[in-house]
Amino acid sequence: MNSPRKILVTSALPYANGQIHIGHLVEYIQTDIWVRFMRAQGHEVYYVGADDTHGTPVMLRAEKEGSTPKQLIDRVWAEHKRDFDAFQISFDNYYSTDSDENRELCETMYLNLHKNGLIAEREIEQYYDPVKEMFLSDRFIKGECPKCHAQDQYGDNCEVCGATYSATELIKPYSTISGATPEIRTSMHYFLAMSDARCEAFLRDWVQGLAQPEATNKMREWLGEGDEHKLADKDISRDAPYFGFEIPNAPNKYFYVWLDAPIGYYASFKNLVEVKKTTFDGKAIQTNFNDWVKPDTATEQYHFIGKDILAFHTLTWPATLKFSGYRTPTNVFAHGFLTVDGAKMSKSRGTFITAESYIQTKMNPEWLRYYFAAKLNASMEDLDLNLDDFVARVNSDLVGKYVNIASRASGFLSKRFAGKVNDAAMTDGLLVQLRAAQKTIAEFYEAREYGKAMREIMAQTDAVNVFIDENKPWELARLEGKDDELHRVCSICLEAFRILTIYLSPVLPVVAAQAYAFLNIPAQIWADIDVPLSSANTINAYKHMLTRIEPTHIAALLEANKQSLQATENMVHVALRDIEPIAPTIGIEDFVKVDLRIAKILECTTVEGSTKLLRLTLDAGEGKTRNVFSGIASMYQPEDLVGKLTVLVANLAPRKMKFGISEGMVLAASDKDSSDNKGIYILEPITGAEVGMRIS
Ligand code: MSP
Ligand code: ZN
Repeated sequence: MNSPRKILVTSALPYANGQIHIGHLVEYIQTDIWVRFMRAQGHEVYYVGADDTHGTPVMLRAEKEGSTPKQLIDRVWAEHKRDFDAFQISFDNYYSTDSDENRELCETMYLNLHKNGLIAEREIEQYYDPVKEMFLSDRFIKGECPKCHAQDQYGDNCEVCGATYSATELIKPYSTISGATPEIRTSMHYFLAMSDARCEAFLRDWVQGLAQPEATNKMREWLGEGDEHKLADKDISRDAPYFGFEIPNAPNKYFYVWLDAPIGYYASFKNLVEVKKTTFDGKAIQTNFNDWVKPDTATEQYHFIGKDILAFHTLTWPATLKFSGYRTPTNVFAHGFLTVDGAKMSKSRGTFITAESYIQTKMNPEWLRYYFAAKLNASMEDLDLNLDDFVARVNSDLVGKYVNIASRASGFLSKRFAGKVNDAAMTDGLLVQLRAAQKTIAEFYEAREYGKAMREIMAQTDAVNVFIDENKPWELARLEGKDDELHRVCSICLEAFRILTIYLSPVLPVVAAQAYAFLNIPAQIWADIDVPLSSANTINAYKHMLTRIEPTHIAALLEANKQSLQATENMVHVALRDIEPIAPTIGIEDFVKVDLRIAKILECTTVEGSTKLLRLTLDAGEGKTRNVFSGIASMYQPEDLVGKLTVLVANLAPRKMKFGISEGMVLAASDKDSSDNKGIYILEPITGAEVGMRIS
């Protein structure tokens, strides 16, 4: 073999504000297969990932859940890690972009870019939410479409008529966060100077090395022909409040999440080689971070991504690296999007399948790994998970063809030949042919043509099954004097099974480990293809390795995802009404000044001379009653309220009114302006609350 290569591989960093679903898994499985294949070649490969934690959505979601962003991202990290482990994604390090390593790298790279004159500064106009007191990106603005006048359309495009526009063109815009009408404000921002001639020259050169013709075409489109100079500077800053890293020497400015996210690849790798120092399977790592990330290194660096984030990885990321004194990626491999049964994943059909639901339905992750492998190629085309085809293909290829080889031959070998192969059979023509397929299969794997690799492996598997059908070991076993023949046939089958297992091992790591245990041999690498089983070794009794997928599995899976939908939809589709703007934020120290108590309405009467007021006599547990006037006469008959519990503002200064002194106030809900005539509703606690309890 040629000398081992040094290869750093990444998958895109999933956002920390959502669950891992089967669409994501296309990418992590695609990358993991490649990584496992390259490791099996004997190369020094490191595979790193992380959660992409920063940005406004995480900040707002944490706020809604009543937690800190850190608590939220820690919880999601553990969920993501659990899912990746279940699907055998063999990250050597799974880290977080909210790390010290990442902060340091971001600062260093940014300051270097600055020194090199690649950071521009300029004021920009943006919508601002005066209630929430923050700038709003397009995704947090909705309004009426300027073209078709559909209501509640997002700030950049209309889902009804498909028009694209800028947020400032929306009619009656509102903030989806507070409901307030946004104002236009200006703010200073930092830009990566993509329009700089050095940047364009560098990218025109770098693009030559891209592996995928579709990616090269996209780059041509973005860069323009000749001297079109189409690249625009990229905004890399955000105003406070923002969950992210503060920009050095720029108070209240934060790095935009897409600046720190790809740097997170390096942060994860740095943490791996400097702190964690072991691979996914526990081997010690001894290498130097800078030897991999500085220019002119002999190491390789590959990013697996989805086609939607190509520009970030082929324009801004290489430019950031180039002009901050780092190496640039060797290549970027983009894949297409997953559809299920020919359509976009859908929550109502239950095809928005989460990794968690797949695991909880007790489905085998290797079924999906195999199916995706069979469907994947090196292009950016979308791929489809056809559920009927999924069941049929896995059952036929893996259970019917591959595993079957071992189960058909192992019984005879164990019972009749003490679990030992016939060494002379190891050079049989069939096995020679099988081993000879390794070059083609390896080329397909490395070129990410997994579909072709699986077809080639299955063609070889078919050949072995034909061999079994022609030689009929079950008949040989019944005939006199056919022992040698039976031994030879079964030995060939088991050696064939070993070779096929090595071929499939990047895709089916768990099945492969079981197969090696059954054959009683150590974990195999590619070079072992040419090292046959030996009679020195005793094969173990066969235990079944892989069960069939049943249609009931699929039904349960879809059902599970329909159920989880309702929970999430209630969470996500929160009501958006034309409400009174939320008041300015107060601290808890302001809130605790208000003493709210559960009080019982002992008496309730109308007030002579007033159509609005009712007079309430309240018991708040103080050993005396209170007299309170409340403007709820239009809503309640006095007798309806007697005996009920309500909420009293107990430390409100007494107020002298025309009809007497009001010693406090009861809480009631109403719409912002009473002309709406939606009424006023007195608060009543849920059963169990008692007189005098404080509300906090
Ligand atoms: N956080 C960014 C990536 C930052 S990388 C420095 C992001 N996160 S994501 O969670 O939305 O997506 C993670 C990866 O999964 C992306 O490469 C994306 O293309 C991929 N996929 C998300 N949905 C997918 C499908 N339905 N099908 C295939 N890949 C999909 O983007
Ligand atoms: Zn429209």
